[in-house]
This record gives sequence, C-alpha cells and structure tokens, in this order.
Amino acid sequence: MSTPPLRLFFALPCPSPLAQDIASWRDSLELRGRPIAADNLHITLAFLGNQPRGRVAELQMLAGGLTASRFELVLDRLDLWRNGLLHLSPSRVPADLLQLTHDLREALQAGGFELEKRAFHPHLTLVRHSQQPSGTAVPPFAWQAREFALFVSEAKAQGSHYRAIGRWPLQDTGPTVSSAGKPPPSGS
Ligand code: 2AM
Repeated sequence: MSTPPLRLFFALPCPSPLAQDIASWRDSLELRGRPIAADNLHITLAFLGNQPRGRVAELQMLAGGLTASRFELVLDRLDLWRNGLLHLSPSRVPADLLQLTHDLREALQAGGFELEKRAFHPHLTLVRHSQQPSGTAVPPFAWQAREFALFVSEAKAQGSHYRAIGRWPLQDTGPTVSSAGKPPPSGS
C-alpha cells in the first residue's frame, strides 16, 4: 500500500512572542472569518503542494545547502485580497528576504520541484474569508528573521496544523540595516 503524500511548504516561522502579539492584536479587531492560530503564523517562501514522503530528505539536504543572511522584516500593512484573505505584509521587502526566496526557488527548480509561476508577495495570513477592517492602524510589527523551515500541513479536527520538519538558521553577517536605513546602535 502506498503512503499518502505530504503537503509541504518552506516558510519563515513567526517567532513565538511576536506571533502571540500579532494574534492578540488581530483578535482585538473582532473580524469575521477563520483566524489562523498563533502557532501557525508564518510567511511562505515556496509552496510545494503534495509531495511523496521519499522526497523529504532531498528537500532537507537542499535547504541545508543554502547560505542566507538574517534580516529584519517590518509588517506595517494590513490588506484584504479578493479571495477574502486578510494579511499583514511589509511595505519595504528586505533584499535578504528576496535573496533567500530566489536561492531557495532556484535550488528547488534545479532539483525538479515544480513551483508556482506567480510573483512572490511575502505575506502573513491572519484570517481567511474575512473583511477589510476600516481605519485600522497596524502597530507595526518588527520581526527579526533568524531561521526558515520546511513545514508539513496536517489536517486536524480544529483545522490545519503546520508542523516544522526541518529548520535552518540564517547567518549573522554583520550589522543589520534597520528599516530606518541606519545600522542599530552598537551593543543592541
Ligand atoms: P496563503 O496563506 O496565502 O493561503 C500553507 O497552506 C501555506 O502555503 C499558506 O501560507 C498558503 O498561503 C500557502 N499556499 C497554499 N496554497 C498555495 C499555492 N497554490 N501557492 C502558493 N502558496 C500557497
């Protein structure tokens, strides 16, 4: 009997304290729709869809072969797409995030994995089947990206749960340029 495929994607996992802050703020808006659980919050880098279990080791090897830098991501925009997906996104996309996504996608394509052709729009989904909140200011949320991960999406009674089956650190390559365009003060 063949084993069922796994629904896989690479993503930046939202660090726990930040995920709690984002979820609490989101819940305070009392919006219509299906909220994403705090421990499921993430930004997808590459969506792989259903893959045979036998390819997981290959994906882990491929991710382990990448070198990418840490970066800061400031989520300061709140938007609703036409499909009802309410999400946060950065108004300024860090070059290191684009580089990581580019390198990851290139390695996946070289490995024979099929990816979506659509342009990459980094976003963190907050609520599905939602509405546009009127006049809501975003705090904003600063995210220190220190790792990326391979996730498997698992169906549970309460909805999908995303479980990391591999995590890879982003490298410390010197002072991060903050969103204000200046390096942070020394000692921070
Ligand atoms: P979404 O939040 O914009 O729906 C797990 O489902 C993750 O993979 C989610 O971040 C989801 O993005 C993304 N995802 C699901 N289907 C996808 C697809 N066809 N192309 C790109 N990303 C997808």
